[in-house]
Amino acid sequence: MKVTDAVMARKSVRSFLPDPISNDVIQELLEKASRSPSGGNLQPWRVWVINDESMASFLQHLANSPSSEALQYQIYPPRLWEPYRTCRYEVGEEMYATIGVGRDDKPGRLKQFSRNMEFFGAPAAIFCFVDHRMGLPQWSDLGMFLQTCMLLAEEAGYQTCAQEAWSTAHEQIQSFTGAPDDLMLFCGVAIGKSDRSHPINSLSTNRLPIEDFATFL
Ligand SMILES: Cc1cc2nc3c(=O)[nH]c(=O)nc-3n(C[C@H](O)[C@H](O)[C@H](O)COP(=O)(O)O)c2cc1C
Repeated sequence: MKVTDAVMARKSVRSFLPDPISNDVIQELLEKASRSPSGGNLQPWRVWVINDESMASFLQHLANSPSSEALQYQIYPPRLWEPYRTCRYEVGEEMYATIGVGRDDKPGRLKQFSRNMEFFGAPAAIFCFVDHRMGLPQWSDLGMFLQTCMLLAEEAGYQTCAQEAWSTAHEQIQSFTGAPDDLMLFCGVAIGKSDRSHPINSLSTNRLPIEDFATFL
């Protein structure tokens, strides 16, 4: 698969088939993804994998432990401004439209949001952490690692969804994984085979035209 093919094929999948993925495949993805660049070669990504039985026990842990929780970072800046506000609004509207959930259907929206907390049915996932003493450059390194991982998953025939939604359950994740306190959860990434027949996976998101984000001098 060409890089371009993987980039164009990757999309956030929000309904997965129960088909398993082996830890060997995930290990290979992570090893390859660790070739991602990072400032000073710090390689600040730290990853916990849950798969199959550990996925089942994690979901059980989630159901059994009280949810908290003060957020460790703000997912979006408050009072998002243009053009970002519209980008966010549009993707939300388009996603809910695929499953026939209207603007005023609060229960429908909550129900879909809660699917985040089941990894949308994916058999496996990774949790990505970064040392909380790290700064913006290292968070950007983590982003590069994540995208590399997601492209490699595509090449291996699996789909993904990065999920910041998991930051709302960081304490439960910290206690389940045993990740040390100096690590801070950035996101989860669901991994598995896309359920291509599910309408939510028909979503094809827009991008700003190049003149809106690039300037050639
Ligand atoms: C770091 C990160 C966190 C995300 N968190 C969530 C999430 O919690 N739930 C969700 O449904 N989508 C999440 N997304 C998916 C974005 O909504 C998606 O990438 C964006 O709308 C573009 O669509 P595409 O990935 O299909 O190209 C996340 C994406 C990234 C990169």
